[in-house]
Amino acid sequence: MEKEIIHLKERFDQQILFTRNSMELEKIRNEYIGRKGYISKLLGQLPLLSQEERPKIGKMLNQIKQSIQKVLEEKEKELQKQKTFKEEIFDYTVPGKDFLMGTFHPIELILKQTEEIFLGMGFKMVDGPEIELDYYNFEGLNIPKDHPARDDQDSFYISPEILLRTQTSPMQVRTMENQPSPVRIISTGKCYRRDSIDSTHTPMFHQIEGLAVDKDISLSDLKGVITEFCHQIFGKERKVRFRPGYFPFVEPGAEVDVSCGLCNGKGCQSCGYTGWLEIMGAGMVHPHVLEMVGYNAEELTGFAFGMGAERIAMLKYGIHDIRLFFENDIRFLNQFK
Ligand code: PHE
Repeated sequence: MEKEIIHLKERFDQQILFTRNSMELEKIRNEYIGRKGYISKLLGQLPLLSQEERPKIGKMLNQIKQSIQKVLEEKEKELQKQKTFKEEIFDYTVPGKDFLMGTFHPIELILKQTEEIFLGMGFKMVDGPEIELDYYNFEGLNIPKDHPARDDQDSFYISPEILLRTQTSPMQVRTMENQPSPVRIISTGKCYRRDSIDSTHTPMFHQIEGLAVDKDISLSDLKGVITEFCHQIFGKERKVRFRPGYFPFVEPGAEVDVSCGLCNGKGCQSCGYTGWLEIMGAGMVHPHVLEMVGYNAEELTGFAFGMGAERIAMLKYGIHDIRLFFENDIRFLNQFK
């Protein structure tokens, strides 16, 4: 029993060292010298001891109890002192802790800038569904069920007629169905394709769509609007070129390139030694698309264009891997403050 008592005191001395507040102190007091504490329990065992041992152990227990009591009192005083000390030295002039300020995601920055540029040119914003009807995503855009153009845009189907949109172009059809010409709209948002993930593909990405329909709209209007957009986004020194491209809902169709900003069009690794970077698809709205929404294709013409926001952001900010946009690494995102 002697050993047990010594061990108990040692444990107490350890515990008291790590006691930081009065609640913890109270707990220890109860544990050791409370009515049901260790000391009481040991005192209760005294009658079981032999005649000679009883007074010796009894004395020992009482001494330990007293010394524990003393230590507890001292500790209490010390905690009290610490508390008032803490209150006294509160310095109101010390600068507060910084809290983390959020920032716009680079894709959001591109969408905002794009919207501003086109609003400035008289376009208005429209918003459309990400869950789209096959009709708007494909058929209304001159891409019937068996058209090979569907192969490039495999999607996530919810039912045979409902899918996650693969492009923002369905907003061309939806807008024209809803209003007579003239039309000048921009629509941005998420699109989905069944692509494997690599440095330039993610199954979800953002597109920016534009459409203008009116009397006497020509290819030169398209060139003017796109060139102005590229100058505002990438800088006036960049050249813009149009080369033939195929999209079923425009005729003629074009792919738009902007001169490489790293080599000024001379050719470097970044532009595949061509001097040009492809940034969007565009063209004059196909008469069949106009007819399907009930527009008079004899009287009206229009242009449309579509681009990936991630691609624009990668070229503008010099980002080489599209996955960075979606990893939520704060070290990456903080660079766009
Ligand atoms: N929607 C096309 C795509 O995703 C781009 C495009 C839009 C092309 C408008 C022409 C006109 O590839």
